[in-house]
Amino acid sequence: MARRLFIAGNWKLHKGPEEAGALASQLAAKLPTDGAIDIAVFPPFISIPAALRALQGAAVDVGGQDLFAQSEGAFTSAVSGPMLRQAGCARVLVGHSERRSLFGDTDADVSAKLRAALDAGLLPILCVGETLEQRDAGAHVEVVQAQIDAALAGLAPDQLSGITLAYEPVWAIGTGRTASPDQAQAMHAAIRAGLAARFPAFVAQETRIQYGGSVKPANAAELLAQPDIDGALVGGASLDADAFARIVEAAETVSR
Ligand code: 13P
Repeated sequence: MARRLFIAGNWKLHKGPEEAGALASQLAAKLPTDGAIDIAVFPPFISIPAALRALQGAAVDVGGQDLFAQSEGAFTSAVSGPMLRQAGCARVLVGHSERRSLFGDTDADVSAKLRAALDAGLLPILCVGETLEQRDAGAHVEVVQAQIDAALAGLAPDQLSGITLAYEPVWAIGTGRTASPDQAQAMHAAIRAGLAARFPAFVAQETRIQYGGSVKPANAAELLAQPDIDGALVGGASLDADAFARIVEAAETVSR
């Protein structure tokens, strides 16, 4: 069975409620509703209701950029999986490199968050990726595989079917420097081989692996044409409705 392409926009720390509503309204007008691919946006927590309102009736999921592993309790400022569900989110990002490097999320945190997301009925996107130093040292495949192993350890194969992976090389995020289609494809194939070695065959065949890192309308088509690249996790270009719509359009023209 072919994997449905999946284009997601990570708005990071951009777009308060008013601006998020405006961007989401533009997306609702521009994005296709044929359901040929999956589309999602990840606004800041506080802007999720505004985005959801503007996207009512559109074929676009809304998700959180992170979640806390506990459902409730004395954890000032945290937002939990059940809260995201209650707010109307379908999805959540877990383990984004900015969470890991700037907020100290460890592999153990990422694993706990992934479980919490699944327990809450959210569809997580698990983000992984190496630094430039790690790539230059030739350790990129090993680093990414270790991140995936740590996050997925102990999960049953049927739990994995709700998870999307996103390979985001840290050196390509927000730098304008994209991994070449060959570099990205090689890593995606290695990730899929790792899944095949660890889980029943259907997991490797069905798990979608997005690429992220300076994806733009100009480079989306050649990245998405790679056989193991099943979509994109878009940062900067997702803040512009027109650019995001063009990336979605590029995905729609890829035949699988
Ligand atoms: P950019 O597309 O801005 O490089 O960001 C990628 C990213 O981190 C998406 O999660």
